[in-house]
Amino acid sequence: MSTTVPSSELAAPAPAESAESTDTGKGPAAPRAASWGADPYANALRTGRGPLFLRRSDGWLLPLDVERWCSDAGSADLSALHRCEGPVLDIGCGPGRLVAELTALGHRALGIDVSEVAVARTRGLGGAALLRSVFDPLPGEGRWGTLLLLDGNIGIGGDPAALLARAADLLGVGGLLIAETATVDVDERVRVRLDDGRGGPPGESPPAACGAAAELFPWARIGTPALLRHARACGWRTADQWGAEGRTFVSLRRPVRERSARTSSQSAESANSTPVISSQLPK
Ligand SMILES: C[S@@+](CC[C@H](N)C(=O)[O-])C[C@H]1O[C@@H](n2cnc3c(N)ncnc32)[C@H](O)[C@@H]1O
Repeated sequence: MSTTVPSSELAAPAPAESAESTDTGKGPAAPRAASWGADPYANALRTGRGPLFLRRSDGWLLPLDVERWCSDAGSADLSALHRCEGPVLDIGCGPGRLVAELTALGHRALGIDVSEVAVARTRGLGGAALLRSVFDPLPGEGRWGTLLLLDGNIGIGGDPAALLARAADLLGVGGLLIAETATVDVDERVRVRLDDGRGGPPGESPPAACGAAAELFPWARIGTPALLRHARACGWRTADQWGAEGRTFVSLRRPVRERSARTSSQSAESANSTPVISSQLPK
């Protein structure tokens, strides 16, 4: 596993740490993903603008494309959305452009996110969204037709293999996972914090006053070759791989296997039914 972020994909070392905690501590997701619920991300989503970075502990910055996330779905997004089948769960939906577009295309779509502002913005666009971590109990477990992990979200939790296992439990038989991959051949687990680029020198620890938002949290970056290796080892089949507008994607078919004990009773009850998301859908 590589542990180095290629400098071609990163901005200069961080000039600053300025995170200030507003972690709500709400729900079981909070300890796992407190940083995404805190100020730097919420502020960026409110204004629709960066700068915003994931800052690695050694000071290197991975820029986050807040402006694109807060815009309408673009043609690369559509290349993924047109491949969706059945009801769609957008994991880490952010401000909701994909959920809104899917809804407009006539899909049953639900976004989940650990950021209150992201969920509110998604609903504001007319999309259905829940304030929930992907690792929390979710509606329609074992019945989703497609899961989306775009915009780097395969990095959620810092362990793509664990996220793939969770995805397999969420999907119905024959279900599809569509993931965006890093454009370079990388397979790394890192610890990062959100950073809006203001303040102190690179490599320095954030001031104690920064609180929970300054906490490092696990993240992963993975390119197509490594993701396909992990997925095949767990029984996933490659359905497709493609590129659009400089972004890279893969789609994977869920492994045919026994589900984990936690979800097997739910899935057996409801094998071919639609996930119960009506109450989350726009009126
Ligand atoms: C890299 S951003 C992607 C933004 C998004 N795809 C969009 O369209 O704007 C990661 C997103 O995942 C969310 N997230 C982080 N951890 C999560 C988790 N455990 N479960 C669900 N969402 C999570 C963050 O709040 C953030 O909105």
